[in-house]
Amino acid sequence: MVEALAAGEPVAMPTETVYGLAADALSPNACAKIFEAKNRPLSDPLIVHIPSIDWLPRLTSPTPAALQLAEKFWPGPLTMVLPRQPIVPDIVTAGQETVAIRMSAHPLFQEVATAFGKPLAAPSANRFGRISPTSAAHVLAELDGRIPFILDGGPCAHGIESTIVHVSDDGLRILREGPITREDLRAFAPLLDDSIAVSAPGGLKSHYAPRTPLVLEKNPAPRSQKTGLLAFSAPREGFAQTEILSATSDLREAAANLYGAMRRLDEAGLDLIVAEEIPESGIGAAIMERLRKAAAR
Ligand code: TXA
Ligand code: MG
Repeated sequence: MVEALAAGEPVAMPTETVYGLAADALSPNACAKIFEAKNRPLSDPLIVHIPSIDWLPRLTSPTPAALQLAEKFWPGPLTMVLPRQPIVPDIVTAGQETVAIRMSAHPLFQEVATAFGKPLAAPSANRFGRISPTSAAHVLAELDGRIPFILDGGPCAHGIESTIVHVSDDGLRILREGPITREDLRAFAPLLDDSIAVSAPGGLKSHYAPRTPLVLEKNPAPRSQKTGLLAFSAPREGFAQTEILSATSDLREAAANLYGAMRRLDEAGLDLIVAEEIPESGIGAAIMERLRKAAAR
């Protein structure tokens, strides 16, 4: 694994959020292979995963708030966007003056990152615009034949991507909702209006998309013989196939099951998937953000 990374190859690995496709973040050639394998446009910057906190000031200019956030939430599912240092290759930041950084809490990821000893650029290990993988089998379905290795660490604990927050002296701006919630972050610094765009290509309106058309409804009703239901906690009448995110209405469990359930419905040969709206509190906001994007196209 580490030999492959050192040779500039991309390797798929589990993180606590979703599987990532990792490569040497300080090697533009290695990073180029990530874009190639994913069919990802070069305009979409990568998240850099650091093996230890001493890399934070080497790659960015951390503000006091950033250091506090790192102390509180790392290792874990929080990505911070900060001013970059020149050592960070342009291909990683898509030429922007900021870089996105996080430290993964997954034991296998940490083990590989520590052995490699350098930062790893790692986007989610799916083809561009598709559903993020939460198991090694999902990665295989997305990238078979395009990458040399997949490290199998079982299913991902959170199941949705990290929270991304832009950190500046004025405050925090959430660029992508995730497992670290708005409420978690508000305790640290003022949350700025996130409708004011800081360029986050992940902010693309359509993303996380199944191939089957998906609509989001408060009270789902079947439209045809071949309508599938992505339900929050209970089944409904008349659907050809149903996936339940959490029978106990547990939002964390729903997040962990979201992408696997979307994938199963997508593979069922349906005409339409109707997703039920879920409560937008805590991590529910992040789930709804994904569902809105899956529905937008
Ligand atoms: O949980 C995660 O964050 C996973 C795991 C593998 O760590 N990674 C992940 O990466 O979701 P990716 O590439 O699928 O999504 C990263 C998002 C992209 O939408 C990108 O546009 C945004 O982060 N991003 C990266 N660098 C940025 C920057 N400097 N400014 C704003 N957005 C940035
Ligand atoms: Mg992604």
